[in-house]
Amino acid sequence: MPEATPAALLPLPQSCTGRTGPGLVLGADTWIDAGTGTESTARWLSGTVGAATGLPLQVQSGPGSEPGPAVRLRLDEHLGERLGAEGYLLESDAAGVSITGGGPAGLFWGAQTLRQLLGPPAHRRAPLHRGATWTVPPVSIRDAPRFRWRGLMLDVARHFLPKDGVLRYLDLMAAHKLNTLHLHLTDDQGWRVQIRRYPRLTEVGGWRPRSRIGLTASTLWDERPHGGFYTQDDLREIVAYAADRHITVVPEIDIPAHSQAAIAAYPELGVTDVVDTTALRVWTEWGLSPNVLSPSDTTLRFYEGVLEEVLEMFPGPYVHIGGDECPMEQWRASPAVQARREELGLPDEVALQHWLVRHFAVWLARRGRRATGWDEILDRRAPASGAGAQAAAWSDTGAAFGSVSGAARADVGPSAGRPGTSDLPPGTTVLSWRGTTGGIAAVRSGHSAVMCPEEHLYLDHRQAPEGEPVPVGYVCTLTDVYLFEPVPRELTAEEADLIAGAQANAWSETMETPQRLDYQVFPRLAALAEVTWSHLPAPHERDTAGFLARMRTHYARLDALGVDYRAPDGPRPWQRRPGVQGRPMA
Ligand code: ACM
Repeated sequence: MPEATPAALLPLPQSCTGRTGPGLVLGADTWIDAGTGTESTARWLSGTVGAATGLPLQVQSGPGSEPGPAVRLRLDEHLGERLGAEGYLLESDAAGVSITGGGPAGLFWGAQTLRQLLGPPAHRRAPLHRGATWTVPPVSIRDAPRFRWRGLMLDVARHFLPKDGVLRYLDLMAAHKLNTLHLHLTDDQGWRVQIRRYPRLTEVGGWRPRSRIGLTASTLWDERPHGGFYTQDDLREIVAYAADRHITVVPEIDIPAHSQAAIAAYPELGVTDVVDTTALRVWTEWGLSPNVLSPSDTTLRFYEGVLEEVLEMFPGPYVHIGGDECPMEQWRASPAVQARREELGLPDEVALQHWLVRHFAVWLARRGRRATGWDEILDRRAPASGAGAQAAAWSDTGAAFGSVSGAARADVGPSAGRPGTSDLPPGTTVLSWRGTTGGIAAVRSGHSAVMCPEEHLYLDHRQAPEGEPVPVGYVCTLTDVYLFEPVPRELTAEEADLIAGAQANAWSETMETPQRLDYQVFPRLAALAEVTWSHLPAPHERDTAGFLARMRTHYARLDALGVDYRAPDGPRPWQRRPGVQGRPMA
């Protein structure tokens, strides 16, 4: 691990050595020598770094050679065998720069490193001064990520983020070598994906009349209607833009809870013998609606139809089917649901929920996709004792947003998990949010897991004890995120291999604008990038001071990228939200 990197590289590369001699000065004659398979990174460099520097950076493929120094792009499958497809080598000296990728993704991450080497202004969209000098320091870098899933979840359901905001976030993720964007597309408060065969999902489910400002204890309301949705073409564009940046988009269609917007659009999806679902509207409260999907054949066929269209739009391996926080009251009270449970020979409602989740996990597996879900997808039985009371307590308080601590939630989490105990298809991936318990259970039953524990990686939670706009939940500082370790110590090496990585979740109840989103996401996403990319030692051995020192340069990059981050000394005046209530933890 280098003591310092020449340009305060972030995330920290696996190895970086300064070389002697002058660096490469880019000029009007610098060109991009694009080897076979490198065209899309060449285009990105020429378009993005070309715009920032004001240099032509012309791309030349094939054997022709230009007179000036070159940025040489190559793929090397032997390197890929050693470093993986996301690994790369970068060598620079006065004669040129050479980036070699283990695969196209590695090459692209190398190009991101090259931009960092040019300095923060290389992250702007136009040069500040014509004729500025752009120098690549002489270095030798060898780099590859620690984890294969380096993610961010955007909750575009609670507050819609218009398409250009998502594209911007893809650029911000790429700048941090993050490779997985999870879009939380549906919830009680809004349905955000066009489904051609069910137009009411967006016509009705995409809008709500008003929104509470702050969390449930707040009495302030924004009386403007809120909503919006992505057309299928918007999502195809997002997926293609992401693919150019080697980012996979994981769509989430949440079942069977967090579904009131869908039920408002199609009342037959709800528990119709318990509530008059025709009277339901898209929810205007935060928290957890008691109105859940019925586990009926109608629901199964409807959501298979939804997923058929989702699969057309999202070619990636993963489809997220939610599965979290299902209040069971309506199922318990419903003769129709109880008859269904008995007919299936299932002991309780948790088993019924598991049956529903499994149905879709198998449906996806048959179509060559991997189901992903929150860690509740492993739950198969209601807890027998005290923990059950705990579960009932948080379900019953439905309206409270995340109303119990992570520790209490962990009480209702999956049991320890034993190999072979899962009946979900083998490729199913579990997102562990109730602490790391769900992830541990997942890998112990042979599934891969992504760590996103609420107390460490929920970006709606406040970044300092005092003075935060809309203070929510745990205090989770930049350093707290930096010290998160995705692999729990108790795992064996084999189990640890199943930890695919980690992701940060930006739940958006209190993030009603892109500025609020930026404030909550940054700078903490930079820490997550380093935790998931770099081969950091155990938390107590991490060089936090070194990270914070590199952050000084990184803030200048974020400034250049136009990110409204939280500054180290707290919110700027316009970032404060005086009088808006959050939900601090006790
Ligand atoms: C969650 O926070 N309900 C996944």
